[in-house]
Amino acid sequence: MRKKVFGIKGMNDVLPESSKLWSESERRIKDIFSSYGYEEIRTPIVESTDLFKRSIGEVTDIVEKEMYSFTDNLNGDLLTLRPENTASVTRSVIEHNLTYSGPKKLWYYGQMFRHERPQRGRYRQFNQFGIEAFGFEGPEIEAEQLFLINRLWASLGFKKHSFPKLELNCLGSKGERLLFREALINYFSKYSGDLDEDSKKRLKNNPLRILDSKNPSLRGLISESPKITSFLGRASKNHIDNLCEMLDELNLPFKTNHNLVRGLDYYNLTVFEWKHEILGAQSTVCGGGRYDNLSELVGGKPTPAFGFAVGMERLIDLIQEENALSVQSDLDLYIVHMGEQAKRKALIFAENIREIGLKIKVELTDATIKTQMKRAGLSGASFVAIFGDSELELGCVTIRSLNLDFNQNRLSQKSVPLESVADFLLDSLNNTEKNICEKI
Ligand code: HAM
Repeated sequence: MRKKVFGIKGMNDVLPESSKLWSESERRIKDIFSSYGYEEIRTPIVESTDLFKRSIGEVTDIVEKEMYSFTDNLNGDLLTLRPENTASVTRSVIEHNLTYSGPKKLWYYGQMFRHERPQRGRYRQFNQFGIEAFGFEGPEIEAEQLFLINRLWASLGFKKHSFPKLELNCLGSKGERLLFREALINYFSKYSGDLDEDSKKRLKNNPLRILDSKNPSLRGLISESPKITSFLGRASKNHIDNLCEMLDELNLPFKTNHNLVRGLDYYNLTVFEWKHEILGAQSTVCGGGRYDNLSELVGGKPTPAFGFAVGMERLIDLIQEENALSVQSDLDLYIVHMGEQAKRKALIFAENIREIGLKIKVELTDATIKTQMKRAGLSGASFVAIFGDSELELGCVTIRSLNLDFNQNRLSQKSVPLESVADFLLDSLNNTEKNICEKI
């Protein structure tokens, strides 16, 4: 046998056992996005490397060490697999002048690529759902997006007590951040001997990121460090206060975290993350903020903007950990057969009754009836139909329910004339649905 080919480390398959949960979650997320007036945008997976360098920032982990970049053999262009999508969406909005007739609310879904060390919740190819709103200056768009995310948790089946927790910070304006940066450099320089290698490097080029350090031995130093709040002017303070008031008005709980700086350089004013401790080290399931200066950085006119992205792998992990949403098979009927003739009849029969919208799987192997019945049981179908040569001579098939009713009894099996099978199934499926609705 030839040597097996394996998938790439940190790039995962979504197998059928969980793809149903992915699809159902995706459907619910898209519904919520459109219910707030967001429209879908799709951008290419590859963009010019320059786009990400300019937007995410040259001295960030992503640009310094995590991008999958390569040279296009044909023309020597430097290209990169997108590590995130805010930069690409901003590029597209500028290129197609999408804010020409007013503000624009956009959503996207797709794969992102970062060359990180793989661990739970941290992959090299991962999926993000995100929204980006362009042309909105005030905190109202921020409150609306946070309400949207809160609604998302509920629509994905999370109970209130198991919602991820919202943390907020205000990074002020560019000028305010410069002063804060100076203060941080002065403060941490006094303790440079206590800093780890990573933080020493950050001290020189991106001191705000020291606040984000996960190193427990720096916790004390960081907690005593200058706080951004001391550098915020009236406008920034009003902005964040207004946002907090709106969140309070709708009872959306949040915590202020002055060390929340995010790993991308394009943010100003409000930044936020939703975290869930059950996810372990990679606990942030959703992150975002305001990025009013990004449009200009990539060659557009000044355009206020606010958005976020949810990591799908972490979200699915969380849904499973919390048993928030379980998705049943949507197969109505599994047909097993006893004999060559019966198999062919089953195939033709199924093809005809799929016309009325039933979802049917026909057993096309010659496995023993016992194995076929076992597969039917595992398929999640509501009913199994047994096609036997002798029974078919009489024009009948046996139908058995694979679901338990509310008294935990299996519905008994029944011989049904072939021409009545479709009606029988539709009636039974409707009744089951009715029962479920009444029960709910
Ligand atoms: P981000 O915080 O880098 O922000 O990523 C957002 C979410 O994507 C994270 O909270 C996490 O759930 C997921 N994520 C990030 N990296 C990985 C990874 N290596 N493996 C698995 N999941 C991951 C952004 O990407 C910004 N573009 C968000 C944004 C939109 N800000 C404004 N608009």
